[in-house]
Amino acid sequence: MKLWIPGPTEVRPSLLAECARPMIGHRSDAMSKLHDRIDPHLRLAFGFAEGSGSEVAVHTCSATGLMEASLHGTGCRVLCVVNGSFSKRWAEIAQVLGFETVVLKKAFGGAASPEEIERALVEKGPFDALTLVSNETSSGVRTPLAGVASVMRRHPNTLWLVDVVSYLAGMPVDFDAHGIDFAFAGSQKALALPPGITVFAASKRYLERVRKGKRPSYYLDAVRVLDGHRERKTPATPCIPLYFALAQQLEDISNGTTLPAQDSALRGAAAWTARYAKHERMYRTTADWATRHGLEYIPTPEHRSWTVSCIRKGPLDVAKFLAELKKRGHTISNGYGDLKDISFRIGHMGDHTEADLERLLAAADEVMLAGAAR
Ligand SMILES: Cc1ncc(COP(=O)(O)O)c(C=O)c1O
Repeated sequence: MKLWIPGPTEVRPSLLAECARPMIGHRSDAMSKLHDRIDPHLRLAFGFAEGSGSEVAVHTCSATGLMEASLHGTGCRVLCVVNGSFSKRWAEIAQVLGFETVVLKKAFGGAASPEEIERALVEKGPFDALTLVSNETSSGVRTPLAGVASVMRRHPNTLWLVDVVSYLAGMPVDFDAHGIDFAFAGSQKALALPPGITVFAASKRYLERVRKGKRPSYYLDAVRVLDGHRERKTPATPCIPLYFALAQQLEDISNGTTLPAQDSALRGAAAWTARYAKHERMYRTTADWATRHGLEYIPTPEHRSWTVSCIRKGPLDVAKFLAELKKRGHTISNGYGDLKDISFRIGHMGDHTEADLERLLAAADEVMLAGAAR
């Protein structure tokens, strides 16, 4: 069975084998070496600039933990762009933490434009932080980061926090070039690992601000984790099996191992760029397939994700379509939240190959031609 849901996604057997390695002590030299292996490749994943003052770390919790950690110490007023389930969750977390939370709400399936974000910052500000989910896995909506970056440059006192959960390792983040202050991604999306750990990045400006701020959490304190990572330590016992798998996967990506044959000689940043290009091709192949069947995407073309396609059901019965695909060895997802039963989602991310995708779409063709999902 191939897992095409938008996370967790398929994990290669060699990475599952990494999770089965004999245990090591989390205060051992071997663990410090594991951090050493992870660090340079994570910088490539976040697209740090040369000589960057930004930092990376890994924490043992799912991405929701980093949504919470990201806010600690930033101040007291936050603007949350809400255009789907996960951005809504982040706004709820801000409220639970006692932030004065202003929501810039868009319809499920929509995206806020840079102009709308700027208007909210000016008319409802000042804000200490802005939260943005770059790729709403719930609706397949990607918010292009470059446009928002140009707005955030005009608001230097507002820290820009970005959820790149289903974006990182599938699309280029360009953390420093865009002036992002904090970004995080869970392991189970385009990094194609089992769930349980989250990787994150913080700017110098973010660290300077939150170090002085109130951070009423011990475990979900990003500063504590970043300080630990710098010394190649973790504040608590980490999920060591996933660290083994993360180190191997990051090295594999940087070494071109996960790329199609024609790109497999690429190394370093070029290999990461080729991984993004593979994701873009997989999105385009899926979009062509949808067009052939007269099916429409939920997002507008400029907001379509390269990692997850959210497609209106057209004449299909979603439950039957999912069941027929499962019989043929492929699991895809129903729509999420407001889009359940009126759309379906294909998570074409991580280490799925283009040949795998062709097989999934051929199975979908077969189901549709037989009229088995109406
Ligand atoms: C965009 C996005 N943000 C946050 C989360 C929350 O991640 P987790 O459930 O791993 O905490 C998800 C989960 O699917 C997600 O897709």
